[in-house]
Amino acid sequence: MSLCIVANWKLNGSREFNYQWLLDFSKSFNGEDFSSVGIAPAYLYIDHLKSIIADRDIKIGAQNIDLEETGARTGEISASMIKDLGCEFSIIGHSERRILFHETNQIISQKLIQANNNSVIPILCIGESAEENQSNNTFNVLEQQIIEAFENANELSSLIIAYEPVWAIGSGKTPNPEEINSVHEMIKDVVQSRFPKIGLESVLYGGSVNFKNASSLFEQKNVDGALIGGASLDGREFALIANVFNELRV
Ligand code: PGA
Repeated sequence: MSLCIVANWKLNGSREFNYQWLLDFSKSFNGEDFSSVGIAPAYLYIDHLKSIIADRDIKIGAQNIDLEETGARTGEISASMIKDLGCEFSIIGHSERRILFHETNQIISQKLIQANNNSVIPILCIGESAEENQSNNTFNVLEQQIIEAFENANELSSLIIAYEPVWAIGSGKTPNPEEINSVHEMIKDVVQSRFPKIGLESVLYGGSVNFKNASSLFEQKNVDGALIGGASLDGREFALIANVFNELRV
């Protein structure tokens, strides 16, 4: 099964955290198939986490990759390096990277190519700001992000998009589920009609997803899963969200 419930741990974690999280997750997850579950820890903990998830088929990924394969780029990590550690996916273009690290759609486009070249599934994040949302510009902004990101990366064998309104991340606020559904539908239409050589697998929603709002989101036809930040740091709550998804969608 493809990735549906993905944890973005951001700048959090330790080896101790990995052990405790896995214990909490395993006690509460009631599915047998782990293959729809993914975790993006900090790079440093990828190897450790992989070693302790043992035979559970949880997918491990990165939160970012560099736009180059090798070179004089101190501090960077390439798609081939995360692949070497067994990562199956990478988040690309998260709004925190766009805002804090000045990532443009052009940079993101190059990262998508790197991921694709190394058989790493990109989870491309797109989303509008609060002002753009309030001025009813959500569709235009997303369309622009999509078009620019795929301008040079218009042949990708596999892609996941995460719709993450910037104002919903870590704020406890979300658009209403019907709005999210129609945005996801529009994203699928734009990608499929304009970029027929992109293998869009699914569109996840991200931004203040938690156990309480999970079912209202997963009931929406075009919501294929979730990218979860804050609530994913608690192994128990993350497992409960995955259980809700399994009950409604699998
Ligand atoms: P949040 O973060 O769930 O804490 O809102 C989501 C994300 O940034 O991917």
